[in-house]
Amino acid sequence: MSKQENSADRDARVLQLYEELIEIEQRMIPTGLHILGKPSPGSEKVDMLKMVAAFDRPELGARALPDLVAKSLGLAEETDGVTQRDQIDLIIKRSIEELLDRGVDAACALLEREARVSPQESQPTFLLMSNIAEALNTNQELESLSRALRGEFIEPGPGADIVQNPQILPTGRNTHAINPYSVPSTVAFARSERVADNLLARYKQENGRYPEAMALVLWGLDNIKTQGEGVGQALWLLGVRPVRDALNRTTSVSVIPLAELGRPRIDVVMTVSGIFRDLFSPTVQLLDQAVKVVGALDEPIELNFVRKHIVEQMAAEKCEFDFAALRVFSNAPGNYGTNVNFMVMDSQWENEETLGDLFVTRKCFAYGRDSKGQSLEGLEARVAMDRALTRVEATYQNIDTFEIGLTDVDHYFEYLGGISNAVEKRAKSRPAIYLSDSLSHDSKVRTLEETVRLETRAKTLNPKWYEGMLKHGFRGVAEIENHVSNTFGWSATADAVDDWIYSEVANTFVFDDSMLERLRDLNPHSAHSLVRRLLEANGRGYWDIEQSVLDKLKQISRSLEDQLEGVA
Ligand code: BEZ
Ligand code: MG
Repeated sequence: MSKQENSADRDARVLQLYEELIEIEQRMIPTGLHILGKPSPGSEKVDMLKMVAAFDRPELGARALPDLVAKSLGLAEETDGVTQRDQIDLIIKRSIEELLDRGVDAACALLEREARVSPQESQPTFLLMSNIAEALNTNQELESLSRALRGEFIEPGPGADIVQNPQILPTGRNTHAINPYSVPSTVAFARSERVADNLLARYKQENGRYPEAMALVLWGLDNIKTQGEGVGQALWLLGVRPVRDALNRTTSVSVIPLAELGRPRIDVVMTVSGIFRDLFSPTVQLLDQAVKVVGALDEPIELNFVRKHIVEQMAAEKCEFDFAALRVFSNAPGNYGTNVNFMVMDSQWENEETLGDLFVTRKCFAYGRDSKGQSLEGLEARVAMDRALTRVEATYQNIDTFEIGLTDVDHYFEYLGGISNAVEKRAKSRPAIYLSDSLSHDSKVRTLEETVRLETRAKTLNPKWYEGMLKHGFRGVAEIENHVSNTFGWSATADAVDDWIYSEVANTFVFDDSMLERLRDLNPHSAHSLVRRLLEANGRGYWDIEQSVLDKLKQISRSLEDQLEGVA
């Protein structure tokens, strides 16, 4: 801190730090792997129910407990009142423990005693929690697996995240998705307005203007779980609303007038996963239709960037509207994935650009209809995709669950990292890269770097997380190594990992003798891969370290190799 900073600045920075700590502390993380057939233990149940209770569920008449308590005590739940938040949190935790010990009436009574919330208000929420707690104890997974293997009937149930939709319980049912024509649902579309606004506000705050074009990643499972929030976000950015036909199917869009929108229409390049393309065929058509409707509007080009880019491209390249308006891309029919993850994991690349090029090679197949109404059915359109990406200034993906985040799987970096990398080469400038959690109260938008830091602190470097993993022995060490490799994926594709992250990973898992001993006892293969990945991070220039640290790492790597040879 510089001397010039006065005490008000200092207080503001301390508060901001405290806010960040609270954010990490309150972040829901899985503290172990799920074991098929085993219900979650009691302590996890309290955390899980607290998270479920944090959201209003108007369809069930249940109010969010933090809101009820804050309102009743006259506290502002979403302000910076740190101790207030702790206080609310503690009361809710106690009320849920009471619910599990002594039932709904006792929990209502506790909340009335401690926070003056009337039982009439809290009862629907506690009844819901009680049903969920009971359903969490029932687990049909092993029974259903045996039934499936015998070719017998398995009761169907919706697929979602427990916080998004508690109706997924009990687990062990035959997961069904949703009707693609229902996407985006009314609630999802309303929620996605807030995210789209936050995204644009964040970009504007950092750049002083709106982005002309953004690239969005849309996944199938996420849009099932959120009932189409990702789709809704794309429609909001374009400035259109979904319209339902007489059979209540979303089959077209209506244009939101510019005066109502109050901002320019953003050009949106959409990369949809193979799963999305297969599950949401009518939605793919809807998104393509939305771009074309917006591109054909007679509006000033400084308020309609879709039209601006189409008109410019048609003039410069003497091409047709249909070609200049291609914005929905996926794999070739029957193909899935970007393969960027495999290339990174196998270290099969020399320079980073190769990763973005591979992304485009895999994903440059256009979907939608031409102006004669003919389906494109995955038309190879590399030139069109390259061209669309040259204009992109920001990339974005929504995270829809607390269970799977940026470093849990290699799919986030293969998609969001892959497209951001492709944009950087084509636009000749690194895009702003954003994520948001659809689960957070305020639909907070974070940069990629912020999200990597948050995930690292909440999971990889958090003893609660890694000790939870280590309880699973061999598999747990593999999970830790996966997290480190997935973090590395964010260096490779988007240079988004701070040096301190690798340093702390090394300090926690490699340079701590007793931890290294545990890892090599449980799973010497993954321990070795982890050390090798750290060496690769240094070798490729993502982690700057002293020679002595490098020597020590190399020596540990050699000793692990010797151990593995001894094992072999
Ligand atoms: C999807 O749901 O579309 C998806 C799932 C896993 C990896 C990539 C995409
Ligand atoms: Mg760096």
